[in-house]
Amino acid sequence: MTDNADLAALIRTIPDYPKPGILFRDVSTLLLDGQGFRQTIDRMAALVAPDTRLIAGIEARGFIVAAGLSYALGLGKLMLRKPGKLPGEKIGVDYALEYGTDRIELHTGQVRPGQKVVLVDDLIATGGTALAGIDLIRQAGGVVEQALFIVDLPELGGAEKLRAVGVEPTALIG
Ligand code: PRP
Ligand code: ADE
Repeated sequence: MTDNADLAALIRTIPDYPKPGILFRDVSTLLLDGQGFRQTIDRMAALVAPDTRLIAGIEARGFIVAAGLSYALGLGKLMLRKPGKLPGEKIGVDYALEYGTDRIELHTGQVRPGQKVVLVDDLIATGGTALAGIDLIRQAGGVVEQALFIVDLPELGGAEKLRAVGVEPTALIG
């Protein structure tokens, strides 16, 4: 990890949200800071592998990161959405979170076979969300070898789980 202490200082921590014992890393305070957000996107964009064709963002906070990166790099983006939001034919994966369960879905036919896709989100904790995203993109025919996050919570083991399925995770903070 490079020294991104300036960006880390812009993220606040709220204890016991949404459940007792969870230390919630709230990126809303980073997003409020225009230069901080620009630096976040610029530093993440510099890490994206050159043969990448699509940026995949996970709803909701991941969309903000994906939109910034896709604009910065001129790449298309894939929306991995929470249930019931996609109008077309779709595939979906259920997964466990640090504080519950959820599901993400992806339109079929939006990834060309063999296209390189980078998965992005604001944060990786247990890795359940990112693993579900990788599974979906691979089911759709995409190649995922890289995932980028603003924050990693290493004590929750998510990054290791990604490495175990052949994806290299990088976070600016953590
Ligand atoms: C948060 C975060 C990641 C996920 C990480 O999203 O934005 O997507 O949790 O947790 P994990 O590594 O344990 O899976 P959340 O599901 O809270 O949804 P939001 O983006 O809609 O706030
Ligand atoms: N998603 C999963 N765990 C989280 C945490 N501790 N803070 C913010 N978002 C999260």
